[in-house]
This record gives sequence, structure tokens and C-alpha cells, in this order.
Amino acid sequence: MDVYGLIGNPVGHSLSPPMHEAGYEALGLDAKYVTFEPPADEGAAAVEAADKLGVAGLNVTIPFKRDVLDAVDPDPLAARIGAVNTVDFSGETPRGYNTDAVGAVRALDHHGVELSGTAVVVGAGGAGRAVAFGLADEGMSVRIANRTASKAHALADEVPNATGHGLGDFDALLADADVLVNCTSVGMDEDETPVPKSALTPDLAVLDAVYSPIETRLLREAAAVGATTVDGAWMLLYQGVEAFELWTGEDAPVDPMNEALRSGL
Ligand code: ATR
Repeated sequence: MDVYGLIGNPVGHSLSPPMHEAGYEALGLDAKYVTFEPPADEGAAAVEAADKLGVAGLNVTIPFKRDVLDAVDPDPLAARIGAVNTVDFSGETPRGYNTDAVGAVRALDHHGVELSGTAVVVGAGGAGRAVAFGLADEGMSVRIANRTASKAHALADEVPNATGHGLGDFDALLADADVLVNCTSVGMDEDETPVPKSALTPDLAVLDAVYSPIETRLLREAAAVGATTVDGAWMLLYQGVEAFELWTGEDAPVDPMNEALRSGL
């Protein structure tokens, strides 16, 4: 049996076990997905221990995404993002990937969104970094807007074709934009939005990385102006789908994984 898992602290609320196990079941794979909660400063040690124990693959979440870089050989995108959320143990040394970036790209792609033109990424934390690099890799120009504008400028210096901004001027940032992604926590468990409704246009595709609630105020207001909306569960799904495919080498059974994820939300 292949053992996969997630390290995080805390991990109790994770929806990854039912999502991945629905995938194993659909493909008839003899595999199990379990959660581990190492102490907050032991992320790299946990990856080394998992390698020794013969674990096949690990997902990595808060607070370990940066620390585990010390224990893996990161692929080029994960190295540029500076964070790893997926480790594959099938080679000589553990290989680190960042499927959060690809997760956002695949979530948009699944909804028929063309990834060309200009994207506005709100937030310059861990999620914002991953999404900005992911969309830039698709060839999009990226405008990064963050409450702390200096962090947006610093990130824009690293991401190709990117500019950094504060949160003050969404009308100008969004007027000719094609894609908007919220990568802040604004809207999580509260009816708030990081972007004023007046700045939203029908030409936008709007992805919210927040998935609790599933329909955030941002998505509700985007739908009301006629924009295409993609909820955060799609991004969560596709980061898992991408990890599943890296580990198993099979096309992931997206529908059963999606059903398992959404029934847990
Ligand atoms: P994550 O890994 O989920 O991205 P993070 O690294 O802590 O989490 O980043 C949180 C992001 O949400 C940041 O961009 C943060 O803005 P600052 O860099 O200015 O702190 C943003 N954020 C959090 N609360 C916010 C709020 N109330 N209004 C606007 N932005 C907020």
C-alpha cells in the first residue's frame, strides 16, 4: 500500500484526506492518505522522517511551506515561489513542487477562462506569491495589489511582467483586466470584500481563493455584474489534482475528488 499524507499544524480541519481517497477509490489504487501534525519548527525534519519511513508523497501546509525547502530538491517554479506544498519521494532525493500555483491556473482553465492579457492578484502573502508566479508563467501581465503596498512592489520585482500597487485604485487596475484573483483572507467567515463592487466589470473572470463561505461577497458581487466566477474550492481541488497526478502518474478522477471535497465543505 502507498501512504500519502499532509503535514501541517494544525491539520484537523483538512479536506485533503477525503478528496485524495476518493481518487484512489475511483482508480482502484491501493493507497491511503493520512494527516500528520509535527511541531511548528520541525517541517524539514518531518519530511526527512517521512522519506525514511517510505511515505510515497506529502502535501505541506501552514506553517511548513517554506521550511521544507531545506529538505527537498525544489522544481524551478517552487524554487522561485519559495514555498513547497507537495513532496514526491519516488526519486533519489525528495522533490518539492508548488501545486497552489498550477491549482489556480487549472481552476480558471476548467471554467474556460483564457489565460492571456492582464490579471490582478490581490494579496502578496503565500497564496498571492504562488498565484502571481503561476499566472505570469502562463504569459499574463500581473498587477499585484496589496494592503501593504511595499510587499506588492517587492513581489512584483521578482515576478516577470508584474507591477505592484496598493489597494486604493481598483477602478484603474481592473478597467482593462481579464482575470481577478483574491489571495487575501478578506471574506473568510465574514461578509466583506477586498475589492469594491463598483470596480468589477462583466469582462472579468473572478477567482476567490477563499472557500469558506463557498460564495464570498466578492463572488456574489462579481456574479451580479455579469462576471465569470470561480469559487475557492476549485483552486483547492486542482492543487490536489495536480499533486495526485505528480504522485501516481495517472490522470486524476476529478469528478469524484470534487464531490468528496464539496461534500466536506
Ligand atoms: P496566505 O498564505 O493565505 O497568503 P499570508 O501570507 O498571511 O496568508 O497573507 C495574507 C494576505 O492577506 C496578505 O496579502 C495581507 O496583506 P498585508 O500584506 O498587507 O498584511 C492580506 N490581508 C489580510 N487581512 C487583510 C485585510 N483585512 N485587508 C486587506 N488585506 C488583508
